[in-house]
Amino acid sequence: MADRISLPRGTADILPGEAFLWQCIESSARQVFKTYNYKEIRTPLFEETKLFKRSLGQASDVVNKQLLEIKSDKEEGFALRPEGTASIVRSYIENSIDKKEGLSKFFYLGPMFRGERPQKGRLRQFHQVGAEVIGPKADHPYWDAEIIALAVELLNSFGVKGSELKLNTLGTTADKEEFSKKLRTLLKKDKQRLCPDCQDRFERNVFRVLDCKNEACKKIVHSLQLDHSHLSRESLEHYAAVKEGLKAAGIGVKEDPRLVRGLDYYTHTVFEITNGKLGSQDAVGAGGRYNNLVKQLGGSDVPAIGFALGLERALLAREGASAAELGPACYLVALDEQSLKEAFKLLVRLRADGVSADMSYRAGSMKSLMREADKSGASYVAIIGENEIKAKKAALKNMKSGEQKDVAFDALASVLKGT
Ligand code: HAM
Repeated sequence: MADRISLPRGTADILPGEAFLWQCIESSARQVFKTYNYKEIRTPLFEETKLFKRSLGQASDVVNKQLLEIKSDKEEGFALRPEGTASIVRSYIENSIDKKEGLSKFFYLGPMFRGERPQKGRLRQFHQVGAEVIGPKADHPYWDAEIIALAVELLNSFGVKGSELKLNTLGTTADKEEFSKKLRTLLKKDKQRLCPDCQDRFERNVFRVLDCKNEACKKIVHSLQLDHSHLSRESLEHYAAVKEGLKAAGIGVKEDPRLVRGLDYYTHTVFEITNGKLGSQDAVGAGGRYNNLVKQLGGSDVPAIGFALGLERALLAREGASAAELGPACYLVALDEQSLKEAFKLLVRLRADGVSADMSYRAGSMKSLMREADKSGASYVAIIGENEIKAKKAALKNMKSGEQKDVAFDALASVLKGT
């Protein structure tokens, strides 16, 4: 017997029953984005590797350990996108959108790829829904509040309840520099007790120590006395206005001076939304400002902010019954081989008229065919046999009420559409 081929670890098949739930979530997301006036952007699933190296940071785990690179003959090749922000900024610059719009409000939805060790809620191919506000006019602190409100609204629309929003500010690039100096000073005495990865992070990018999952590192980080005393007045004012905007929007936050996020591009506001139902991978979404990224990637000096939610995690945290997909409006049943051809002609006509219809191309006993029709979840069954063909009428049965009436073949589509 031939070897069975399995799906790659850390990926999942979304089978038809489940796919319907995904469609519901995606359509709620599209509806919410419409309410907030965000427009969809679609970028390729892979980009030049250097895009991710230059934007997410060489020392970030996503670039350092998790990039899924594609072999190519170019010196530096391609990699599957681990997130959406870098590609959107690349596209924003490449299409000169900064010259056309003072403010761009994008949303996206799709698969992302990270070569992580798979576990519950942590996949190698996962899906994000996210939004980015980019442009010269994106500096107002209320954009930070809007982006956070949008993330919260999306989760509500998915049925995800009981999430916690953690908020912090990293300030400007100069403030970040001050913060890293402060962190190195505070961590120096415990450096030898940090995990080998964090000893390396201490030198290369000390912020990463703050989100290390190693128990010993977590304990050391927890004991650090952190505050915002290293921040400039400009950064403190921005942060205060963000909090004021969130209060006006009725959104409660938990401030966390240890929150730094795993990607290098952030400045000022950073946030993370966690949910207790998720276990160890509890971040259902995250985001923040990245005021330097457009310039850093060769574009103009424009501010930006955004977030992404993990859809697999949102589905794990969501409450409520799973929606069931409805069957076709009509299921056709042919009682004998001669009636099959007539039933098939009717099926083609119904579909051309926009009525969802199905059949199995199997003539058989009424009982077994009705069982088949019931299983399809159809609202109506059109029964066609010798007598129906002679009268050019189908026996149309309402599967819910059990009521049955004869309907002329020519009138079937309009009757079904009117139900
Ligand atoms: P991130 O925190 O790396 O941020 O990812 C956002 C969300 O994607 C996470 O909170 C999580 O729900 C989900 N996620 C990440 N990795 C995995 C995984 N391996 N398996 C399942 N779900 C995962 C970003 O990606 C930024 N681009 C967000 C952003 C947009 N910042 C500004 N604009």
